[in-house]
Order: sequence, then C-alpha cells, then structure tokens
Amino acid sequence: TKNDVWSGRFSEPVDELVQRYTASVTFDKRLAEFDIQGSLAHAEMLCAQKVLSEQDYADIQRGLAQVLDEIRTGKFNWQIALEDVHMNIERRLTDLIGDAGKRLHTGRSRNDQVATDIRLYLRSAIDDIAHLLRRLCNALIDLAERHHSTILPGFTHMQVAQPVTFGHHLLAYAEMFYRDIERLRDCRKRVNRLPLGAAALAGTTFPIDRERVAKTLGFEDVCRNSLDAVSDRDFAIEFCACSALIMTHISRMSEELIIWMSPRVGFIDIADRFCTGSSIMPQKKNPDVPELARGKTGRVNGHLVGLLTLMKGQPLAYNKDNQEDKEPLFDTVDTVTDTLRIFADMVGAVTVKPEMMRQAALQGYATATDLADYLVKKGLPFRDAHEVVAKAVRFCVEKGCDLSELTLEQMKAFSGLIDVDVLEILTLEGSVSARNHVGGTAPEQVKNAIASLKSRLEG
Ligand code: ARG
Repeated sequence: TKNDVWSGRFSEPVDELVQRYTASVTFDKRLAEFDIQGSLAHAEMLCAQKVLSEQDYADIQRGLAQVLDEIRTGKFNWQIALEDVHMNIERRLTDLIGDAGKRLHTGRSRNDQVATDIRLYLRSAIDDIAHLLRRLCNALIDLAERHHSTILPGFTHMQVAQPVTFGHHLLAYAEMFYRDIERLRDCRKRVNRLPLGAAALAGTTFPIDRERVAKTLGFEDVCRNSLDAVSDRDFAIEFCACSALIMTHISRMSEELIIWMSPRVGFIDIADRFCTGSSIMPQKKNPDVPELARGKTGRVNGHLVGLLTLMKGQPLAYNKDNQEDKEPLFDTVDTVTDTLRIFADMVGAVTVKPEMMRQAALQGYATATDLADYLVKKGLPFRDAHEVVAKAVRFCVEKGCDLSELTLEQMKAFSGLIDVDVLEILTLEGSVSARNHVGGTAPEQVKNAIASLKSRLEG
C-alpha cells in the first residue's frame, strides 16, 4: 500500500527504514476504539453544522461500525505504510464508503485527533485504575478488621521501636492508596478536556461546535488554546507521576511483605499461587510477586522521567517527538493495572502469624517509651524519665532479659516513683491501647479508622 495521504508533495517514496522508524501503528492501534469514537463525534458535529451532508454522516457511521467490527474480530489489516492508527482507519473507511470517508478529516488534523484519542484512552484507564485501588483498599481493610488487635513490633531505622497493631500498620498503606485515588480523581479533571477543534495548531476555518463534540465525548470542557491543545502532554505526565507514587507505595509494601515472609521474621505467609519455586533448590518458595512489583516501580518511574524529558525541549506547537508519548504511557497503564489487580487479590491470600509477631514485639524493649511516659505522669520531667528508663534498659541488656521480667523491687531501684501499677503499662496490650486518639494504634482507633476509610471510599 502506498500512503497517498500526503505523498503528493514528494518526488520519491519514503525510505523503507524511515517508514518503519516514523510509523506508530504497531503500538498506537491500541487507540483504535477511541479514535473511532472521536471520529463519530466529530462527524456528528460536522453534520449538525451542515459541513457534512446527512448522507455522508450516515455513510461514515455505517463505515466506522464495520471498521470497528473488523478491528474487534482481528480481521483488520494494519499497514505500516499507512503510518498510524488514524490513517489506517481512514483508508479502510474510504475503501468501504468512498468520498464520505475522505470528508471525515474536514476541520481536523491528526494533531488534535491523536491528543483526543490519548485523553479518551487515559480517562478510561484512570477509571479502571481507581477502581482497582479501591479494591486494594478494601482488601487491606478486611485484613485490618480481622487484626485490629494483633500486635507486632513497629520499627524505626529497622530497629524495634514501639508495639503497634497489625490493623493499624495495614491501614497506613490503605491511607496511601486512598490518596492515590484522590490524586487520580484530580488528574482526571485535566485529562478530561477536548483538544478537537484545534486542528493542526491554529484552529479551523469551518464553523465548528466544539462544545457539542465535548458533550458527546463526555469531556468536561474544551482545551482553551489551540496551540496548547495539540502540543502539551502534561496530562499524561501528571498521570505518570500519580502512577509513580502508586508504584512507590506498592514497592514499600512489597518490601515489607518480603521481609515478613522471610523465615527469619516469619510474620506472614503468602498463598502458593502468588509465589514461585527454584529450579535448583527444592525447598524454596519465593515471594516473586512483591519482588517484581518492587522492580517494576523502577520502570514506571523511568517512564515519568522519559515523558518529562520528551516534553522539555519542544517549541510550540506539535512536534513528532510527541509520538514517543504512547509506549511509556501504555506501559505505565499496563504495569500499574496488572500490579494492582494482583495485589488486590494477594492481600486476601496472606496468612498472618500473630504468635510470631507477638514474640518479636516482646523483644527489643518495645514498651520502654511507655515506662518513661508512666514516670512523667507521676511527675518526673520527660528528659529525666528518659534517662531512668535508658539505665533500666541497659541493665536488662546486660542481664539478657526484658523490662517486664524485672521484679518490682529491681525496678524500684531505678526510680522510687515506680509502683505495682507499672506492670499493666509494660504489657503489649497496655502499650497499644494507651495510644487511643485519632490516628493512634489502639484497637479501638483501628476500628474508627476503618469506618472513616470506608465512608471516604464510598464518597
Ligand atoms: N502518530 C502521530 C502521533 O502519535 C499522530 C500525529 C501526527 N501528526 C503529524 N503531523 N505528523 O503523534
């Protein structure tokens, strides 16, 4: 096939390698359904504005329906020589319906066409991803509900810090993913605007009705400047930034799942169907999914930087550089979608081992802060209380025991303020349930946090 859409100006055919180099159809054919949707809305408007005849519009509708069917059933013959998804579809349409097919591009350019396609594609991807994030949040909430009072050590610097409830720990991730939903919701507003009408860069001489097309396609507004409409991809970059954050949250959670599943820690197990074995070591069961997700985060971050770099040197308006926006964007959507789908299921397939968590929390003097707070409540200034407890911990380290294993007499030697009521303070349950305020780790607060998150997820 010869690409005669623009070859009229040329004295020789395009070099074969150049043809392949400049073509995008191998990857942008993925936009086909959105391209057809955009074309139908454009044609409908041209007809309403009397730029196209009723007959032409009817032919275009019929032709595009057939093209869509051919694409869906895999019968469509995609051709590199026709460069991209837009010209492949237009050519087939013209083969099917004749001149009306050639009139479709009136008042339009591939520049505003492709920008429209990407926005339609991305809007739908955002809705899918937001839905998956909601599913993941719900899976975390379910697990948190079951473990609102399961206790494990909380860490800072990877050193035992204070006891926390497992439900509280899980909800930390649910909050992160909830913010990711909010970010996508916000990003969607800027994605959901119509470029069509900008034509190549300056607008068109035809009496178009952009608001009508926007309404047909479900866009909230039209892009207000034609040069901007065809040339910026900030909406895609913003989406990739949201995605990089989603993956960053996934990656941190993955890191913990991997650590928790290590036999040295043994806090959880992950169902076999989310793990893989070793070709040499028969005993192995590896957490490949979280490891891969951690790895794929690098690739999503890379796409964000790739798109920023793609954009930064471009003068107004459209430049072919922008054709390079698609593969990183598609790969970002695919990676985030697959990852979230798997994680939403995997969280529900985690077996929790509360006894292992408890044993770990009992080591490392996790309730030392509680003892200091206890002394403060008895009137000692915090800095002095800190000093007293530090000495007691040091004594225990030397003896190789826990604070709770000291006798009351031994403890009293560190401070006369210590009395029998200290024993309750030093338990894991006492420690977590004492942190009973909004955002705290107490089981009661975990229940409140779940209720709050549930209502925010519904809103
Ligand atoms: N395939 C092109 C892209 O992805 C479509 C727009 C091409 N426009 C042009 N004037 N070459 O950006």
